[in-house]
Amino acid sequence: MEHKPSILPLFFLVLLCSSVYCQLDYYFYDNTCPNLTQMVRYGVWSAIQSETRMAASLLRLHFHDCFVNGCEGSVLLDDSSVFKGEKNASPNRNSARGFEVIDDIKANVEKACPSTVSCADILTLAAREAVHLTGGAYWALPLGRRDGKTASESAANEQLPSPVESLQKITTKFTSKGLNAKDIVVLSGGHTIGFASCSTFKQRLFDFDGSSKPDPTLDSSLLQNLQSLCPNGDGSNSAIAPLDPVTPNKFDNVYFKNLISNSTVLQSDQALMGDSDTASMVNNYSKFPYLFSRDFGTSMVKMANIGVLTGQEGEIRKNCRVVN
Ligand code: HEM
Ligand SMILES: *[C@@H]1O[C@H](CO)[C@@H](O)[C@H](O)[C@H]1NC(C)=O
Ligand SMILES: *[C@@H]1O[C@H](CO)[C@@H](O)[C@H](O)[C@H]1NC(C)=O
Ligand SMILES: *[C@@H]1O[C@H](CO)[C@@H](O)[C@H](O)[C@H]1NC(C)=O
Repeated sequence: MEHKPSILPLFFLVLLCSSVYCQLDYYFYDNTCPNLTQMVRYGVWSAIQSETRMAASLLRLHFHDCFVNGCEGSVLLDDSSVFKGEKNASPNRNSARGFEVIDDIKANVEKACPSTVSCADILTLAAREAVHLTGGAYWALPLGRRDGKTASESAANEQLPSPVESLQKITTKFTSKGLNAKDIVVLSGGHTIGFASCSTFKQRLFDFDGSSKPDPTLDSSLLQNLQSLCPNGDGSNSAIAPLDPVTPNKFDNVYFKNLISNSTVLQSDQALMGDSDTASMVNNYSKFPYLFSRDFGTSMVKMANIGVLTGQEGEIRKNCRVVN
């Protein structure tokens, strides 16, 4: 009997992965780029060897990618003739960092597995490795994100939360991405590493809400340190302060202890204590590091699934800074 090629496998492929129903999966690159995780881990590890802060910068870059029209690598795109990208939006200008690290990892990955792995997946994996390499949780990541073909400065300005916004407004932004109050609290725990520049918290230091006094919910010794770092009236000051002044380079639950002792830098962080629901979650995470680790991974996977492109949508960029 003549052997005819079966169309059955093709049929199942289409069934599992039509562009509408295609899902991310844990084994996505197992055959096409088996060494991917090692390559990303090595790239993040070497970047952290030269500068510890890079772990924080990569984590934040992934968050800023996902919150602006989904985790599709838009934050990585340079301005082009057809769009103004997100790098110059106010939450990112002079503040978003780590682009060169992603470029280096992407270049290595392209050598091993050309045109196979999206920039969006590389950034997602880099954020996980960054957290793990600084002492935090590790979690399994479904992969298969595709890269978007556009970016938007105005979307970044509208969709990213600001440190002077109320908890209510921040909640609205998270809710519109499918994230809840628990996700806000646990993901804010990302502020256990990294730095903030004076401009993002100065409004608390001298004339809070037009009171001519500092923010009363800021611990007095931290207040003094921040005031001398960021003197009143020095508008061009670009000094930076650690978001977690106690263990600035360690991914631990001390951020939550700081919230309880009024020792966080951003107003939007301290605002988590102004609501009884979020404050009781803070209390929980300050007491139980394991609970924080577990929930952080869960919420990171949730965040990493926002607005992803799959199947035939988007593309696999060759260079993370430009559309193919
Ligand atoms: C809840 C709303 C949030 C607000 C208002 C906020 C705001 C900020 C601000 C103002 C900075 C300082 C930026 C600078 O001065 O350069 C910062 C840094 C940072 N944020 Fe957030 N953030 C939020 C949520 C998150 C989330 C969800 C994550 C990740 C899970 C995250 C991770 C980080 C990290 C790691 C840094 C330090 C970056 C570095 O040192 O390069 N943030 N954030
Ligand atoms: C996997 O990647 C790492 C980091 O780049 C490299 O050191 C190692 O040789 C690679 N292994 C294989 C089997 O390609
Ligand atoms: C933190 O600030 C609040 C509000 O001003 C105050 O009630 C509380 O006692 C402060 N906590 C500590 C540990 O200083
Ligand atoms: C605190 O953690 C416990 C489990 O350890 C959980 O049952 C409880 O619901 C948590 N409370 C809040 C407010 O998250």
